[in-house]
Amino acid sequence: MARIRTAVFPVAGRGTRFLPATKASPKEMLPIVDKPLIQYAVEEALAAGVEKLVFVTGSSKRSIEDHFDVDTELERTLAESGKEDLLALVRDIVPPHVSCLYVRQGVPLGLGHAVLCARPAVGDEPFFVHLADDLIYSDVPCLKQMHDQYSQHGCSVLGVETVPRDQTGSYGIVAVTAEPSGLQRIERIVEKPRPEEAPSNLAVVGRYVLTPAVFDKLESTGRGAGGEIQLTDAIADLLADEAVYVLPFAGTRYDCGSKIGYLRATVEYALRHPELGENFKAYLEAVWER
Ligand code: G1P
Repeated sequence: MARIRTAVFPVAGRGTRFLPATKASPKEMLPIVDKPLIQYAVEEALAAGVEKLVFVTGSSKRSIEDHFDVDTELERTLAESGKEDLLALVRDIVPPHVSCLYVRQGVPLGLGHAVLCARPAVGDEPFFVHLADDLIYSDVPCLKQMHDQYSQHGCSVLGVETVPRDQTGSYGIVAVTAEPSGLQRIERIVEKPRPEEAPSNLAVVGRYVLTPAVFDKLESTGRGAGGEIQLTDAIADLLADEAVYVLPFAGTRYDCGSKIGYLRATVEYALRHPELGENFKAYLEAVWER
């Protein structure tokens, strides 16, 4: 079975929900405490053994390329002033054996289209898709959990969690059946159904292991929900040819595409932060008592 070597990060979206913060800089560069969302995403992929990072970018996303590139001037300044800790912090973002590829999604035709744009960079291999908006805190990194499940059967795997019924319209929703092995196989998948039409309240979050067969499906996927080419619709087509499983991963997800989710993540990551946690907790308690 092929090892998963590639992760695709669709980062072309304009992040209109965070305007004006995202007018000239990408939403993926918004920090949670001291690290941009996209770096959390990359670290998760690296922890799952990935060696090729494919970013599907669009206009005003240059800072993502800069972030993962070497900054010789900054490194020299930090070295000259003896700031070895900070030097290591900026130098070690991407290890030397890992390559970064950037593909442009010229027109914003949806997530399915973004993934299809990555096809030449991925090749004929299984790959991860990671949506940086969905930040997941867990002991075992979520993509690693997914790789472990993929290793059992070699089929596509989607990360899922249950959501309140009234939120099905924000997600891909699946109906699953349990196999004797305990694995849950997808019977149906629908993009953003209304609660009364949703086949369940089990929602796909932004983590996918996909076999390359999905690319052929995407080639012929028409526009779906919201007038966009949806990854969910291509996966629905794939179900006719291949088994696709879900993984109710262990961990806490923060929807950093929404302001409240972003704030929750900021507060909880700050509380867990080794240098800030204690001070920040005392501060929150003081605020609470005011
Ligand atoms: C995308 C997918 C959707 C998935 C969601 C997870 O939607 O199309 O199926 O459930 O990500 O965050 P978006 O949030 O980009 O509208």
